[in-house]
Amino acid sequence: MNFSSAPIGVFDSGVGGISVLKELHFLMPNENYIYMGDTKNAPYGSKSNSEVYELSSQCVSELIEMGVKAVVIACNTATSIAANDLRKKYSIPIIGIEPAVKPAAISHPGGNILVMATPVTLRNEKYLNLMKTYEHEANIIPLPCPGLVEIIEKGKGHDGELKDYLDRLFEPYREREISVIVLGCTHYPHIKKHIKNAFCSTVKVIDGGMGTARETRRQLIEHEILNSPENKGEIQFISTLKSEKELKIMKDFFEKND
Ligand code: DGL
Repeated sequence: MNFSSAPIGVFDSGVGGISVLKELHFLMPNENYIYMGDTKNAPYGSKSNSEVYELSSQCVSELIEMGVKAVVIACNTATSIAANDLRKKYSIPIIGIEPAVKPAAISHPGGNILVMATPVTLRNEKYLNLMKTYEHEANIIPLPCPGLVEIIEKGKGHDGELKDYLDRLFEPYREREISVIVLGCTHYPHIKKHIKNAFCSTVKVIDGGMGTARETRRQLIEHEILNSPENKGEIQFISTLKSEKELKIMKDFFEKND
């Protein structure tokens, strides 16, 4: 098989990375993708660094065994812990995602920026360095969201629980003028509409999905492994829980438009 037509491996702890897969598929519809949701081990965001490293390493090694030409770590938590070491271990391109603090700070100088992410991402050195780089441009406020991924993973029919969680989360910030909310976990774009409803419908909300998709395309071009434009891309979903129910939830998230 020509290596250019090999799939791109995309993984996350669960359904979160499907928000990145959507951007990848929008930008490069002719690529083949294998999406791996490590639903058996979700959430990553409240585990220890060494556990997150081991689980991420396992996903990448399984995807590489399946013959992928590149891996997208569609998870801010796993990127912050494992991306650098995994890049040293493998020769194929490994692309990660980080909270979109840079575009938020540059486009809102002097503003208040709320960064929603998992506790692991926000306590990690990678994020602390990112914050240090942009703290002179804007007031960056980290907002850890323990438990939010678990609600999103349940899929449809949990709107009441979600609303209660978000109302409590945003309570301390209601009186502050927030310029932009950064979604620093790939699960959160799936509930963007709920976040706007709970905070304020006019607040600007951004995430790093499209930036990651563009960086992936840039690296495929650089390595000369972009798939030929006349190919019709296919997507294969895998859940480490190996259940039909999980696969159905994943496909629903991919097809959902919001
Ligand atoms: N979606 C992931 C992220 O971007 C991980 C969430 C989790 O498993 O806690 O951080």
